[in-house]
Amino acid sequence: MTNKPVVIGVAGGTGSGKTSVTRSIIQQFTDKTILMLEQDFYYKDQSHLPFEERLSTNYDHPLAFDNDLLIDHLERLIARQPIEKPVYDYKLHTRSDEVIYTEPKDVIIVEGIMILEDDRLRELMDIKVFVDTDADVRIIRRLLRDIKERGRTIDSVIEQYVNVVRPMHLQFVEPTKRYSDLIIPEGGQNHVAIDILAAKIKTILAEKKQLN
Ligand code: ADP
Ligand code: C5P
Repeated sequence: MTNKPVVIGVAGGTGSGKTSVTRSIIQQFTDKTILMLEQDFYYKDQSHLPFEERLSTNYDHPLAFDNDLLIDHLERLIARQPIEKPVYDYKLHTRSDEVIYTEPKDVIIVEGIMILEDDRLRELMDIKVFVDTDADVRIIRRLLRDIKERGRTIDSVIEQYVNVVRPMHLQFVEPTKRYSDLIIPEGGQNHVAIDILAAKIKTILAEKKQLN
């Protein structure tokens, strides 16, 4: 299918700079070209559970994600069909009632800690990227972000990091680096890597245009 969108997976630990890398790439294209799908928005719906119970969920385990829905949406977008993209609320620890009507685009970037963990997702990707940032930098970034943007306290971020995020990262995230085509050290400020990736995407799009 020459009209198939280019699918790029961007994985990496929490705070590694996945979102920043993705945004930097998007800036090099027009609004109509690239669509971003955040794996976080596909955490399993927990709206039926009391808030206290949602606090104790392990959000760093592969089973926390509704990958079936994410794969279904990705397949629809690849088939050039629109989706109703879920919206996630980090303060309430669940999906919101809202969905976003989302049209397919020529390039789809799927971004998330566990995006390379599921072989069904890997098979749908044309380019697989792992953003590789040292753990000390990642925890500092996460601490600042979670307090500022996700309604957390210093104590809660540290407790969650030490007891859950770090061991799960070593077990489930770090090993997926081996599946990547490209490793981007430090994330969003790595302009060389970002330019190389953007250039590759432009080449693929130009080749597809010639074939159509
Ligand atoms: P991820 O999506 O991998 O969790 P983000 O791109 O959201 O990572 O970055 C996490 C936090 O760190 C964000 O608040 C972001 O603004 C900040 N950040 C990302 N890259 C850098 C950088 N190179 N220098 C400083 N802060 C950064
Ligand atoms: O953006 P980032 O890659 O950091 O998002 C993934 C992280 O979000 C996971 O490490 C997980 O611990 C955290 N998370 C959370 N609370 C939720 C959902 C995810 O702390 N309700």
